[in-house]
Order: sequence, then C-alpha cells, then structure tokens
Amino acid sequence: MSQTAVLISRQLPEKARELLSNAGFEVNVWEEERPMPKQELILRCQRVEALLCTSIDEIDAAFISSCSHLKVISTFAVGYDNIDLVAAERARIRIGHTPGVLTEATAEIAFGLMISVARHFMDAHHQIGNGEWKYFVPTKNLGKDLTNRTLGIFGLGAIGFEMARRCQAVYGMKIIYHNRKRNPRAEEELGASLVSFEALLERSDVISVHASLNDQTKGIFDLSAFAKMKESAIFINTARGGLHDEADLLHALKKGQIWGAGLDVTNPEPMNPDNPLLQQPRVLVLPHIGSSTEFTRDEMARIAAENIISFFENGNLVHEVRSS
Ligand code: GLV
Repeated sequence: MSQTAVLISRQLPEKARELLSNAGFEVNVWEEERPMPKQELILRCQRVEALLCTSIDEIDAAFISSCSHLKVISTFAVGYDNIDLVAAERARIRIGHTPGVLTEATAEIAFGLMISVARHFMDAHHQIGNGEWKYFVPTKNLGKDLTNRTLGIFGLGAIGFEMARRCQAVYGMKIIYHNRKRNPRAEEELGASLVSFEALLERSDVISVHASLNDQTKGIFDLSAFAKMKESAIFINTARGGLHDEADLLHALKKGQIWGAGLDVTNPEPMNPDNPLLQQPRVLVLPHIGSSTEFTRDEMARIAAENIISFFENGNLVHEVRSS
C-alpha cells in the first residue's frame, strides 16, 4: 500500500518528522534555512496530501486554489492569520494549529519586554559598551515603576491571561481588558474589568497586545489610538505586527505621546535593520521569539504532527481551526 505523503515546509524540531515517519507517512522536508518560495511550496504540495506549514507560509486563496487536493494543513503556530480559512473550507481542507503549549513562553516574553522597557535594559547595556558609564548619576536612566500600576490587555485569551496573572502576582497591577467577549475566569481570579477600547487606551500604564490579527484588529493601534494613551505608557505587542502601525508608533514615541515600546512582532518580518524604531532609546524589538523555548517548540512540533496523524487515523484533528 502506498504511503500518505506529507510536506514539512521548514526545518522543525525533529519530533515532527519522527512522529509522522513512525506513523507510516512519507515525509518530505524543505531542508533549507530560508523560507520556501511560494511557487516552490505550491509545486511540492502537488505530490503530497498534507502540509505541515508555519506562520510565514502564505496559505491564501491563490495557494488553496492551486492545492485544493490537500486534505489537511497543520500550522506550527497558534495564530492562523496567514491562512484563508474560507477558501480552505470551500476546498474542504481541514486546518490544524498548536494552541496551549506556547502560552507560558509567550506571556514570559511580554512580561520580560515590559520590565526591560520600563527599566531601560537595552539602552543601559549599550551605554556601557559605548563608554558612557563614567560615574553613578542619580538622575540618569530613571525608569517607570510598575508596582500597583494598571495593565491593559488587548485580547484576553490564554496568553493575555498569563501575562495579566504575572503582572498581578509580581507587581499587584490592576487589570483592565478589551475583548470581543467577557473573560469570566480573568474577572473572578484576577479581578479584571472589561472596558471599552477608548478606556483601555486612556487608563492603562502598560498596554499588552494579545489579540489575533483579522479585519477588525488590523492596524488598530494607529495614530489616533496612540494619541489617547498616557504619555507615560508602555506599549507591548507579542501577537502580530499587523495590529499596530509602525510609522504611527514611531511618531507617537518621537512626539512623546507614549513613553516606550516592546515588540516581539513587526510588520513586515523580518524588520528592516534600518528601521528607525531600532534607534529609539526606549524601544526593544525581538525577532518573534515568543514561543522559542526548547520545550515549547518541541511540543508545537508534536501537536502539529499529531493533527495530521489523527486526521488520517480517525478524521479528527487534535486542535482544529474552524472558519466561523
Ligand atoms: C506564533 O506567532 C504563533 O502564532 O504561534
């Protein structure tokens, strides 16, 4: 009997290949470090029935129409804004993702960015390398206090909850949030209050973004949003770069409309090394490493592979994404 063929579009933790091979699949892996060009992805997908992709593969309507024979696509990510779910559903392609396992690791990056920006970690480090640390200067490098401040979460799902839990446990922060629907657990356990988007902007000392990117959230942190924030506010985004407008963020920082920013996501990715945000003293940018711990990436590889295995075994994915 011929084997079912799967394409893995990037080098992933070995567990993905191992699980699929052990389950009897023929596994093809793109072995190069650079992402697979779209035409190459389409070409290679002609020879397989399942695709294990990542968040940087563009699974749009054009891809789906060229690869409508695929039975299942499993993405090595929790976010799936790179996938046209409506087109996939029309082609009866089932979509899987890897929620849950990257919650802690991503919340940790948001928490770390918040402290690093509030206390000038990056700039202070560079001052030493630049020979600027000559004396103890009591009025230099003054940071923002976080204790008892207000944290505003935009998009309070699992990751937002873990960020809020950390901020409350460590700094006694008051939690407000803006979400499509109430989060009863956050209200009960953290005393979080649901507020309008305007109130979130106006009242938060730190805003941490954890929402998914879609037509409603795209570019929502723009000039007018930043202008409503406190001049002392810190903006953190570990979700998707498309949620904030990079030029508007730079403008807000330069005009002193907000105080600092920590980003694990940019638009586009990778960020251009000449991007002026990188020269801002109270900005810290990371190269999308929210889920990047050994354990987390292994678990993501496991679930992404198990989505495919389970689909071919019993018609169900471990974690399926649905279009509505
Ligand atoms: C990473 O950004 C993910 O969506 O898993």
